[in-house]
Amino acid sequence: MGDSGPVTKDIATEVPSQDFLTTRPPTPAAEQFVGDPAVQAEWDQRYIDREQLWSGQPNGALVAETAGMPPGRVLDIGCGEGADAVWLARGGWTVTALEVSGVALKRAARHAEDAGVNIKWVHADLVAAMLPPASFDLVSAQYPALLRTPDNAAERAMLAAVAPGGVLLLVHHAGMDTHPPQESGIDPADYVWPTMVAALLTDDWQIETYEERPRIAPDGGAGAHHTDDVVLRARRLR
Ligand SMILES: C[S@@+](CC[C@H](N)C(=O)[O-])C[C@H]1O[C@@H](n2cnc3c(N)ncnc32)[C@H](O)[C@@H]1O
Repeated sequence: MGDSGPVTKDIATEVPSQDFLTTRPPTPAAEQFVGDPAVQAEWDQRYIDREQLWSGQPNGALVAETAGMPPGRVLDIGCGEGADAVWLARGGWTVTALEVSGVALKRAARHAEDAGVNIKWVHADLVAAMLPPASFDLVSAQYPALLRTPDNAAERAMLAAVAPGGVLLLVHHAGMDTHPPQESGIDPADYVWPTMVAALLTDDWQIETYEERPRIAPDGGAGAHHTDDVVLRARRLR
């Protein structure tokens, strides 16, 4: 992936260190966020509300599905607090990690610093980031909370990022696509689910895995109650 893209930046070095436990979100302007500020603010608040939102461990499906894959260029979409990105970097992958929440990204950058690995952080919405097309050997989206639009922009951005010969690995909570609105106010109908991505796969893609299976859940973290995954792994042929 080239270095001339409009949105990539190393937030570990460019953003002054802040107290992550503050109740005040970081200043978006200072971070050059690319995307909808309301989406950023919503996710920042979720992270601010918890000292640590996720388990800190890499996702089980990612670990299982990348076993035997030669390390290459990987994009982690919605990297959260960076556990997957750091694990991939430790495994020799060249990692680009994209996330809307600046609060999460700063935690992720600290995690990477502690681990002594180098990761390219992109503080942006997936669609607004306008990543260079066909640039990644692996595009990993683990439980991404991408808003659905009539033009399927997020699904298309995900697919467009995969290089010929590369793999899209999309993992989500099983059954959520038909789930009624939740008490929290979140309506699953507003989000992108693997069925929607699978529906866009053309003859240029080969589905290697598309199944529901028990989740290999890391201990702790806000999503620990989800018991089953849907795993879509598709290889771009050309
Ligand atoms: C359920 S969390 C999963 C985090 C991480 N992948 C993991 O498994 O721990 C979804 C993440 O997607 C991020 N996100 C939401 N909308 C996004 C968007 N449009 N582009 C990029 N990231 C987004 C959220 O801030 C959040 O960190």
